[in-house]
Amino acid sequence: MAGGRRAAGLALGWGCCLLLCCAATSKLEVSTPAVVEVEIGDTARIECNFYIPGNGSYSYIDWFYVDRKETATPHTNSPVRLCHVTDSEVLKDDTEYKERLSVGEDKALSISKVTVQDDRTFVCQVGAGSSGVGESHTELHVYKVPETPVIEPNTGGISVHNSANSQIAKCESKNSFPPANITWHKNGEQLDLQENQMRYSRTRESSGLHSVSSILFDTVTREDRDSHYHCTVHYWLRGQRHTLESQKVQITVFYPAEHLKLQVVPSSALVKEGDNVKLVCESDGNPPPVFSFYKRGLDDKWQELSSLAETDSGVLTLHGVNKSSSGLYRCESLDLDDMTQLEKEVELVVNYIEGVHVEMEPSSPLREGGSVTLSCDAHSPVALDYQWTDEKGRKMGDGNQLFLSNLTFETPNNLSCKVVAPSVPGLEQSKQVSLAVEGKPRIVAISSPLYVRQDEVVNLTCKAIAFPRPSVHWSVNGTAHEYVDNQHIASNLTVRVNRDLLKAGAMCRFSNKMGDSEKHIQLLDQKTAAESQGVIIVAIIVAILVVAVLGAVIYFLHKKGKIPCGRAGKQDIAKNTSI
Ligand SMILES: *[C@@H]1O[C@H](CO)[C@@H](O)[C@H](O)[C@H]1NC(C)=O
Ligand SMILES: *[C@@H]1O[C@H](CO)[C@@H](O)[C@H](O)[C@H]1NC(C)=O
Ligand SMILES: *[C@@H]1O[C@H](CO)[C@@H](O)[C@H](O)[C@H]1NC(C)=O
Ligand SMILES: *[C@@H]1O[C@H](CO)[C@@H](O)[C@H](O)[C@H]1NC(C)=O
Ligand SMILES: *[C@@H]1O[C@H](CO)[C@@H](O)[C@H](O)[C@H]1NC(C)=O
Ligand SMILES: *[C@@H]1O[C@H](CO)[C@@H](O)[C@H](O)[C@H]1NC(C)=O
Ligand SMILES: *[C@@H]1O[C@H](CO)[C@@H](O)[C@H](O)[C@H]1NC(C)=O
Ligand SMILES: *[C@@H]1O[C@H](CO)[C@@H](O)[C@H](O)[C@H]1NC(C)=O
Repeated sequence: MAGGRRAAGLALGWGCCLLLCCAATSKLEVSTPAVVEVEIGDTARIECNFYIPGNGSYSYIDWFYVDRKETATPHTNSPVRLCHVTDSEVLKDDTEYKERLSVGEDKALSISKVTVQDDRTFVCQVGAGSSGVGESHTELHVYKVPETPVIEPNTGGISVHNSANSQIAKCESKNSFPPANITWHKNGEQLDLQENQMRYSRTRESSGLHSVSSILFDTVTREDRDSHYHCTVHYWLRGQRHTLESQKVQITVFYPAEHLKLQVVPSSALVKEGDNVKLVCESDGNPPPVFSFYKRGLDDKWQELSSLAETDSGVLTLHGVNKSSSGLYRCESLDLDDMTQLEKEVELVVNYIEGVHVEMEPSSPLREGGSVTLSCDAHSPVALDYQWTDEKGRKMGDGNQLFLSNLTFETPNNLSCKVVAPSVPGLEQSKQVSLAVEGKPRIVAISSPLYVRQDEVVNLTCKAIAFPRPSVHWSVNGTAHEYVDNQHIASNLTVRVNRDLLKAGAMCRFSNKMGDSEKHIQLLDQKTAAESQGVIIVAIIVAILVVAVLGAVIYFLHKKGKIPCGRAGKQDIAKNTSI
């Protein structure tokens, strides 16, 4: 309030001084600055200039203070002398300033350690004999820059419903002089407030400084959930307005939900049997409302699914969904503040494959060399692909039919039909079928011929493939053991070798309802075999000898000339040798 005037006064004061220094008049002129500003604790200096006409000199200079009208009581607004200055000395009066004041060479008054109480008027009075007495007044303005304002938002939260003139925040700035002003700002813009929207108060601290505070009351809307509020403290300094801003704060705004969103997570097109599915209900209200979930039953009635829902977070979790989880779901929200209800529905589609079955044509039994057609079928709301694999997972064909011809025992007898829904990743089912190819036993291995010795205990082995499982029959007595591996069956017969066995060997026979097969095992005496080997060796030696002798005879006859020779030279030689 005093600031504007103070600034003007300051300017005027210096203007007068300049004027007086440069222009001489005919009467005694005393001048001091109209205003001197000093921060509390600093030293204030007030210069006093004077002009005495006709080369006269002053006889004394007196400094006084007077309390200003607005602060003074009727008894104290008379001037109080601080000191009396003559050419030779400075006499300090016994006042509160005695210790703090000093007068310089230039007769300027200095007051150190300025306090709030020093905010008063000081008077320089000059006495100059015949020129009379002149005086000039200076307003000493003391100031203290306020502390940065501290803002405290309403932490309780404000509902938009009864928000008229709700307390938004409180702002306080301490220790200023003179008292500072506070303004309020929302999102950077100053609020134009009615009288009842701001409660300003100020207190005078024991130090004489002022602390100011302001409480902002305003109406909040839903949008104010994002608003930033701050307060600013304003003060004057050397004719200039200055400001200090508080931090920006937000307030909690309560507002009812306007929209509800209900979603299937993950996205509903891809839900399949066995998945864990979440129905997520979201509201734009604050605080979040109370949620409840319902499912429409076959009778079109809505059934609450309270036990499955985490009502606080608005999430309904369905573990391991199946076909019967499909249907229409509803989320309802209830705002406890204003009791408004909102609802939203979503359709859940659970994709599935069911009823996978395989048909065989002919149904059974299958014969070796015959053929079979396998047909695979399943139910699903989405398109399906079919694949056939054997028991080792090897692919045998595509499509819902598989034709197998030239059936053998080796044809894989466990087949799988895998049903895949290409549009729903991960959705598949499979069904295994057994193909039993029936046929007459086929002997695949025998231990023949077998070299044995008389009285030795040996094993005779026969192995066959057949289905159904055949029985094994041996033509000789012994201890039989059977080993079965899938369609293969092997039999070991442990026997002691005797003359009869060596002579006749043994027969193994496999038989099932499709027929029988038998094979003969030949036993050879290792000794006889060795003897016959000896005979052969002798025979070979004899043969070599015969050839050698024969060779010698032929040679002899040749030399005798009994065998005619084609060349004369050779005959000569023959003649010579014969002499
Ligand atoms: C003032 O004093 C100065 C020298 O001290 C002198 O020159 C001047 O004339 C005097 N003026 C008057 C008006 O006495
Ligand atoms: C404080 O408010 C008063 C009254 O509105 C005004 O006169 C004064 O200039 C203000 N001070 C500042 C520093 O803005
Ligand atoms: C589907 O799941 C529900 C609950 O998990 C169960 O009670 C029901 O028997 C299931 N239905 C089928 C067809 O599997
Ligand atoms: C089935 O066997 C016949 C005769 O042995 C042969 O000609 C034909 O190629 C075989 N078919 C298949 C699919 O192996
Ligand atoms: C075929 O399946 C049956 C029963 O599922 C099983 O006992 C048998 O070992 C399987 N055969 C093969 C060769 O995997
Ligand atoms: C003969 O077969 C029996 C039973 O199969 C077996 O325990 C034994 O080790 C076999 N003997 C020989 C010499 O292989
Ligand atoms: C059956 O006999 C043969 C020949 O002696 C032997 O090598 C084989 O190990 C026997 N089989 C079994 C399973 O003992
Ligand atoms: C097998 O043994 C039985 C008695 O144990 C006997 O009657 C039969 O003649 C024997 N068969 C052969 C081929 O040795």
